[in-house]
Amino acid sequence: MHQLRNKRILVGITGGIAAYKTAELVRELSKLGTEVQVVLTEGAKAFVTPMTLQALSGRTVRDSLLDPSAEAGMGHIELARWADRVLIAPASADSMARMAAGMANDLLTTLCLATESKVLLAPAMNQAMWADPATQRNLDELQKVKGDKLKVLMPASGEQACGDVGAGRMQEVSDLLKALADEFETKALTGKKVVITAGPTREPIDPVRYISNHSSGKMGYALAQAAMEAGAQVELVSGPVNLPKPDRINNHSVVSAQDMYDKVHELIDGADIFIATAAVADFRPETEASNKLKKVPGQDTMTLTMVKNPDILASVSNLENNRPNTVVGFAAETDQPLVYGRSKLEKKNLDFVVVNDVSRTDIGFNADHNEVTLLSSVDEKPIGPMSKTKLAEELISEIVKSIK
Ligand code: C5P
Repeated sequence: MHQLRNKRILVGITGGIAAYKTAELVRELSKLGTEVQVVLTEGAKAFVTPMTLQALSGRTVRDSLLDPSAEAGMGHIELARWADRVLIAPASADSMARMAAGMANDLLTTLCLATESKVLLAPAMNQAMWADPATQRNLDELQKVKGDKLKVLMPASGEQACGDVGAGRMQEVSDLLKALADEFETKALTGKKVVITAGPTREPIDPVRYISNHSSGKMGYALAQAAMEAGAQVELVSGPVNLPKPDRINNHSVVSAQDMYDKVHELIDGADIFIATAAVADFRPETEASNKLKKVPGQDTMTLTMVKNPDILASVSNLENNRPNTVVGFAAETDQPLVYGRSKLEKKNLDFVVVNDVSRTDIGFNADHNEVTLLSSVDEKPIGPMSKTKLAEELISEIVKSIK
């Protein structure tokens, strides 16, 4: 929670019984060294008093838009600019409706319009009020118009102060604190660009046939997700896979190795990290027949001449001017994985090789779990067995350490 020290949080309290929990939140924030300015609506004052919140925040509570003496201190526009974040907890159905309509008929709604800072909204109300289509419409509208300037801290389900059971309880103080702290987390890969290849490639023989492999793309997609969660701009160049396109990642679909090569080189400028998880076909048929190949009577064999595909990974790691700071390859081997992995590290001029023993059927290619060894010129680190999601997080954190 150290992230919250010296931060300026405007805490808006609207009329709801959960307001008593917000008093506790204000106390916790003050203890963490956060500057807290509390703003109460008229409705809030029926549940908590300005005096209580003044004592807990150490600042005069604001509750009126038309208060000349308060405006003479920090005017409402100044107050809106002062806040690093605005947290509205609890946010009543009425305050959400007014915000969704863009109204500014009290100090809090005015501040919400005037601030350029992100607003965190913690709705709390009776479960039927929360479920009402009008409230849900207001919520959708708010999310639509405010975009990433609004974060809704969705209410939890459970027993309510009114005796009902259902969704509508305000999140606990500890969850609200965590959500606020997350806002100021500087993520390890913020500002970094990461290009990742994933999945198999398909090398066409004729219009209906191709050569490919069993790669599922799961490892590459998990790495893309982990890099995005660490704050990176992620460019995911993927061969044909049966996985949903991940959110908040730039997805580029390709088919053949040559397509993948071209797309990677189009994207690589300015990349800090390149991770090649794709199972790229080493060879492709020399020509793609323009019509479907037919069986020839009396001919029991057929010969396809194959030519080598470009090595995408080696081409990136040998870039002269714009080589990414960190280049990572995968080595899927069936025998002597570490020996082949190490030779790949050197031959392809890599910073890391993730070695996979694909002779095992419980890990690797189509599985959800994997167990690897991360090789660098100075280290050899076994990781797993664990889910590909967790493994991806571990690999990204190892890469981050090496950048530092
Ligand atoms: O040499 P090998 O194919 O075993 O190396 C595997 C690594 O090289 C993987 O990271 C794979 O994504 C990458 N690779 C590539 N382009 C190729 C072949 C492999 O990027 N044509």
